[in-house]
Amino acid sequence: MSWNNIEKNVTGGIATVTVNRPKALNALNYDTLKEMLDCFGEIGKNKDIHAVIITGSGEKAFIAGADISFMAELEPIEAREFAKLGHEVMHVIENLPQPVIAAVNGFALGGGCELALACDIRLASENAKFGQPEVNLGVLPGFGGTQRLPRLVGKGHANELLFSGKMITAGEACRIGLVNRVLDPEKLLDECISLAEMIVARGPVAVRLCKEAVNNGLEMDLARGCSYEADLFGVCFASRDQEEGMKAFLEKRAPKFVGK
Ligand code: CAA
Repeated sequence: MSWNNIEKNVTGGIATVTVNRPKALNALNYDTLKEMLDCFGEIGKNKDIHAVIITGSGEKAFIAGADISFMAELEPIEAREFAKLGHEVMHVIENLPQPVIAAVNGFALGGGCELALACDIRLASENAKFGQPEVNLGVLPGFGGTQRLPRLVGKGHANELLFSGKMITAGEACRIGLVNRVLDPEKLLDECISLAEMIVARGPVAVRLCKEAVNNGLEMDLARGCSYEADLFGVCFASRDQEEGMKAFLEKRAPKFVGK
């Protein structure tokens, strides 16, 4: 499948995926979501990719939401299918074996905020703006915003954003825990790459299992989550990375991980 609305670049084990519809502020239409499914499907299977960065093209937007001109014409059943497609994309991103960093370089509204929420880590530029403005359009968020936002920032902050449809600055998003850090726009991508490089240098098996432990563990009570963590900890001891990591420490040298 060829992609017209997204670009993928792979360097040093890091895949950078850029949504590239700057004229529509990178809004997500049906074709873009389908292309994303294809792209992230490829990334998930690629054992040489150890971290992923998602960003938007241009200087103004990360993703300004689902495409309103596309949605305006939808019949109810089509709208349900569109929401399901969006959910599928968010699910694929959230469950990629590799950690995913959202480089939020501008408007992250509606489906754009929801896509950032499906990522593992969010860094934002000073000009980024966040919001779930769907209530202004007479609908509710359709790509997981009512579910992932309260889980990340708590019910009170989530409800304020969901019910009011207001936009908040990157600084406010950082204060409520929606993003980890706010950066000079010029430095955003470099900082995301530095973080991704740090992740890529670690034991890939351990990093993948960390992601599984956090995502699956959050759906469990603490006792089950801890028991699950102990199981995954045991699984690490079946990997060459565990052997190498501990041996390298004891030999006072840098580890050479093989991701197995
Ligand atoms: N869908 C389709 N096109 C969009 C878009 C969107 N979500 N957001 C922006 N665009 C288009 C505009 O229509 C405009 O196109 P034209 O030049 O052809 O007129 C172009 O991008 C530039 O946008 P503006 O001229 O509006 O730029 P601005 O700087 O004045 O405003 C903005 C920027 C505040 C982000 C404004 O564009 C805006 O409010 N966009 C809509 C945001 C929104 O409501 N997002 C939620 C969508 S609903 C959703 O996502 C549902 C879901 O959960 C599944």
